[in-house]
Amino acid sequence: MVLLRHPTAVLALISSLLLSPAVQAASLESVLADQANLTMFRGLVKNTVQETLKYHILKGTIDMPSIVKGDSIWAATTLTDRNYSTVTGGQHLILTKQPGGEVVFTSGFATRGTVVVEDLQFDSGLVQITDSVMHVPETLESTARNAYKDLAAFVGALYATDLYDEVAGWEDVTIFAPRNAAFQQLAGTFAAMDRDDLRRVLRYHVVPGRLSHVWELRNASALASADGGTEVAITRQANSIFVNSAEIIQPDILLANGVAHLIDNVLDPGQPDARPDFSLTTQQPPVFTPLGTATATGANVPTPFASNLPCTPSCVGGTRATAAPTGSGGADSSNAGGALPRCTGLAGAGLGIGLAVGAIMAGF
Ligand SMILES: *[C@@H]1O[C@H](CO)[C@@H](O)[C@H](O)[C@H]1NC(C)=O
Ligand SMILES: *[C@@H]1O[C@H](CO)[C@@H](O)[C@H](O)[C@H]1NC(C)=O
Ligand SMILES: *[C@@H]1O[C@H](CO)[C@@H](O)[C@H](O)[C@H]1NC(C)=O
Repeated sequence: MVLLRHPTAVLALISSLLLSPAVQAASLESVLADQANLTMFRGLVKNTVQETLKYHILKGTIDMPSIVKGDSIWAATTLTDRNYSTVTGGQHLILTKQPGGEVVFTSGFATRGTVVVEDLQFDSGLVQITDSVMHVPETLESTARNAYKDLAAFVGALYATDLYDEVAGWEDVTIFAPRNAAFQQLAGTFAAMDRDDLRRVLRYHVVPGRLSHVWELRNASALASADGGTEVAITRQANSIFVNSAEIIQPDILLANGVAHLIDNVLDPGQPDARPDFSLTTQQPPVFTPLGTATATGANVPTPFASNLPCTPSCVGGTRATAAPTGSGGADSSNAGGALPRCTGLAGAGLGIGLAVGAIMAGF
């Protein structure tokens, strides 16, 4: 990996975006200039990464020692443009202090990195230097396509039932998204289910207006779902967290409009009282009755609804070549009104090319 050293170019861009008083920029510059490896380069001068830069600037000062070992906190950033994020108060990232004391950030697309230089002071706050660049959280669709392929069945089912835009339009959502295998196991059941029932099932997995990271899901609490407020119940047991009887297997997938937690079973709004059986040493059984011949799971088994994901340039010739593009950073006709946060794929692409090492989180 090539390291380039052009801190002045970086600072010029940051200051034009965010630090209008020249005196602040100069002070920040003098702090950063001492950091030999703090470098970001060509890609940064493109407009498309301005959102990424805003995402690297935190609102409020957070000093790393204040985070308790083993704890996670979330931090709001200056990325408030509603074309990119509809998280109240600014798009956010997660900071976790490991038992060993180092601080790890989590950003979109499961991008993680470690703070390598902590709490550099400048006259308006602190700078944290990280070993990799953060990725602005993207739409559910883009996240399923590009980062979490295990979301394909769930997101495809939202498209198949014309619910995707509704879910992507909700703000501050918490989504409990069943992984592909959960849908594979119940392929016959969903094939036999009528559209309205399937819409109810899918809406039951979404909690609008209440962004809950995994550490905010308290034992024995309940969250009102988009299925008419029918609640989902949280149960914590040792290190496991269950939603009804489904276990969270991948927490805190950051999205443009909230957060998703991947779960291992499909939830049934008709059985809100389902709870995990702790005597089982295996995965909890599905709450739905599997219909048809028992279906296998795995990468070689067809994923229900996956073909309903809209097509992109990379799958031209696929079954939905005419579907409205809702992601991948292209012209976004379905979001023309600006109501839905769009995919920030352009920024992501710029990162891969232009940035290699070193990111800034600066607090005001
Ligand atoms: C800068 O990068 C070089 C090469 O990766 C490394 O050897 C050196 O330790 C780094 N310096 C600092 C201050 O991180
Ligand atoms: C958001 O997107 C709309 C439609 O593309 C555009 O008109 C508007 O200028 C954008 N807003 C910002 C702040 O970029
Ligand atoms: C979680 O809540 C359930 C139901 O109230 C209770 O039985 C259980 O002991 C609680 N578990 C923990 C770890 O507090």
